[in-house]
Amino acid sequence: MKKVEDYVRTIPDFPKKGIMFRDITSVLQDADGLHLAIDEMQKLCGDPDEYDVVVGLESRGFLFGMPIAYNQHKPFVLVRKKGKLPCETIEQTYDLEYGQATIEIHKDAIKPGQRVVIVDDLIATGGTVAAAIKLIERLGGKVDRCVFLMELAGLNGRKNLEGYDVESVIRYAGA
Ligand code: PRP
Ligand code: MG
Repeated sequence: MKKVEDYVRTIPDFPKKGIMFRDITSVLQDADGLHLAIDEMQKLCGDPDEYDVVVGLESRGFLFGMPIAYNQHKPFVLVRKKGKLPCETIEQTYDLEYGQATIEIHKDAIKPGQRVVIVDDLIATGGTVAAAIKLIERLGGKVDRCVFLMELAGLNGRKNLEGYDVESVIRYAGA
């Protein structure tokens, strides 16, 4: 029986030297890999009675968050890179593993008191998810849990997420 990690392809030195790129396209383009990844992540989201909304982080987080929201009959909210959302937004700038970025959320996407599960493909430095947490909390949401397919434990992204429940299907020891 194959595990999800068996479907992840690793590309050395992409997008630059020294980075071991963990490629999810090889997971998604295999029907069994796709099912396994969504099923495992959905389990890590916990009891659906304990969260109200699934938030996905552009772009790879959409691929995993939306099927979970659909399966669990929850609303799905998009956190997008700056300039893509058409209505009133709030924004947050953060550092990436390589570069800097600004993300946004629609102001009406989260209602005060809603319990949120954040879904993304990867936690590296934790900068992206920490910025997303700030956006959700600024709207009055409560982040219940953050769920990832993969975690680069060597980058210790969890240090940015103290006090939050962080779950990942695959944990890579390195960066
Ligand atoms: C990647 C990845 C995570 C984030 C992890 O996204 O998909 O969202 O970086 O890095 P961090 O924990 O150091 O913040 P990226 O911004 O490259 O864009 P993409 O999802 O649109 O490909
Ligand atoms: Mg991403």
